[in-house]
Amino acid sequence: MRIIGTGSALPSLSVSNDELATFLDTSDEWITERTGIKARRLLSTETLYDLAEEAAKKAIKSSGVAADQLDFIICSNVANRYITPGMNCILQEKIGATCAGLDINVACAGFVNALMLADSMIQAGRAKHILIVCAEEPSKYCNWKERDTSILFADGAGAVVVDAGDGFKAVHLSMISSKDVLYYERCMEETPYERNRKEGQPLVMRGRELFRMAVSQSTKDIRTVLEKAGMQPSDITYYLMHQANKRIIESIRTLLGEPEEKFPTNIENYGNTSSASIPILLDEMLAAGKIHKGDTLLMSAFGAGFVSAVCILEWGK
Ligand code: COA
Repeated sequence: MRIIGTGSALPSLSVSNDELATFLDTSDEWITERTGIKARRLLSTETLYDLAEEAAKKAIKSSGVAADQLDFIICSNVANRYITPGMNCILQEKIGATCAGLDINVACAGFVNALMLADSMIQAGRAKHILIVCAEEPSKYCNWKERDTSILFADGAGAVVVDAGDGFKAVHLSMISSKDVLYYERCMEETPYERNRKEGQPLVMRGRELFRMAVSQSTKDIRTVLEKAGMQPSDITYYLMHQANKRIIESIRTLLGEPEEKFPTNIENYGNTSSASIPILLDEMLAAGKIHKGDTLLMSAFGAGFVSAVCILEWGK
């Protein structure tokens, strides 16, 4: 498998830390120091489906593959307005595709998991061209009365088109069942058999615990995937890390002993866009001419579960 097209889309509204501090007990200084975030993009006038459509159309255009030539659509999303049908069904018509698809929810690790699935489908001969769209709107399920998650999460979409190639060098997925570190609970309907209606609750997070798990497990999984690929940390051109917290990225970088310029970030302006964060970063780096044929990219993401997923891609193969 190899990536042959990329695209991304962000909401037009940018909200600074100072703006959040007008209604939350927080400050620009605290958020910047603890997370590296200065501003985030939040949905206001657009819908998540608009972002998903824009990112997908850009990825399709840059791949040179016609929408009706796609064989499969994989959407990565934690939650959107419709629990059913899947986002892939909603997107199919908007982009002019005719193929089937599926949605996956592996929280913020969705993109690497989608790449793994696409690689497996292509290797099995089940598809030639696959569209992956990661579209997330965590602002719609954060608790905006509290400062813990609402300062971190943001909205966005990133997409890629993949086909057969030799670029996907290694992948490693891990999971430690630990629901309480990060979860979003939906409201359940009352039934004639269970009168006790379950109210939902917005995103609940144990920040410190998650921080520690993210650093230790991601570093471990990065070492595992490097070993699988027969590589050293220094063989990687860029580490495209899930943009969750600049301090998490910095801690992992220090443990690997790699230089800062190998860890590009955009969390400063976009916050944590969940599974969309890596494909958005990838698309922006390509647009800026920073990724070249033969570069080796390591992608690492973690999230609710607790899940972690890492892969290595050689660009242009
Ligand atoms: N603004 C101002 N103060 C805040 C605050 C906020 N938004 N959130 C917490 N605080 C306060 C706390 O009340 C605490 O005060 P105290 O020392 O008087 O008790 C202090 O800041 C430190 O809180 P703590 O939770 O220990 O901070 P932290 O350094 O762990 O940073 C996170 C908090 C959430 C930024 C950090 O734990 C984190 O990023 N965790 C991982 C989250 C993540 O990546 N989630 C996404 C997974 S995909």
